[in-house]
Amino acid sequence: AQVHVMDHPLIVHKLSLMRDKYTGSKEFREAVEEISSLLCYEATRDLPLKEVEIETPIAHAKVRYISGKKLAVVCILRAGLGMVDGILDLIPSAKIGHIGLYRDPDTLQPVEYYCKLPNDIESRDVIVVDPMLATGGTANAAIQFLKNYGVKNIKLLSILAVPESISVIQEQHPDVDIYCAAIDEKLNDKGYIVPGVGDAGDRLFG
Ligand code: PRP
Repeated sequence: AQVHVMDHPLIVHKLSLMRDKYTGSKEFREAVEEISSLLCYEATRDLPLKEVEIETPIAHAKVRYISGKKLAVVCILRAGLGMVDGILDLIPSAKIGHIGLYRDPDTLQPVEYYCKLPNDIESRDVIVVDPMLATGGTANAAIQFLKNYGVKNIKLLSILAVPESISVIQEQHPDVDIYCAAIDEKLNDKGYIVPGVGDAGDRLFG
């Protein structure tokens, strides 16, 4: 699996805004949305195109449109919700699934509390979105869940990761490419990314 760390200046700038504890929720939300669009731009680079003949005002031309490949975005509640609109800006016809997973604060194990997926999920390519990969347990569980449903092609979009979450996902799901904005140094003893952005769900939704 490939890990794409998108250290593009626009992403680095917006992530820096997210890191600042004085950035309010409006600006934080906007930065999450914009970074998500930019990650999606890269993650959709391999979408197939089909050739179509049209007429320009001047001549016949062969042009290429997206081939209509079926996509779904699956967001991990809550914080993943903050990424959905930025992605839909680029791929507006994607279907959306929701998986509710929270991390038990004591054991750090993911606990599922909600799941609603498009009914043809197994025939779609899926982009899983969650801004934080801390221990990697949550994303790992969501990906496994989708595979159990028969989903074949999965990509993971996240804003921040640490080396250990990247290793966990790569070991458990070597077929899943990861797109993120940065890989931070480590986790603290509460499982928060350091230096990180704090609790992304709380900063988005309060
Ligand atoms: C956060 C984050 C991820 C998860 C990452 O969610 O949004 O889903 O923790 O941790 P992990 O990689 O160690 O599993 P949280 O449990 O705080 O729920 P929330 O999104 O509802 O705030």
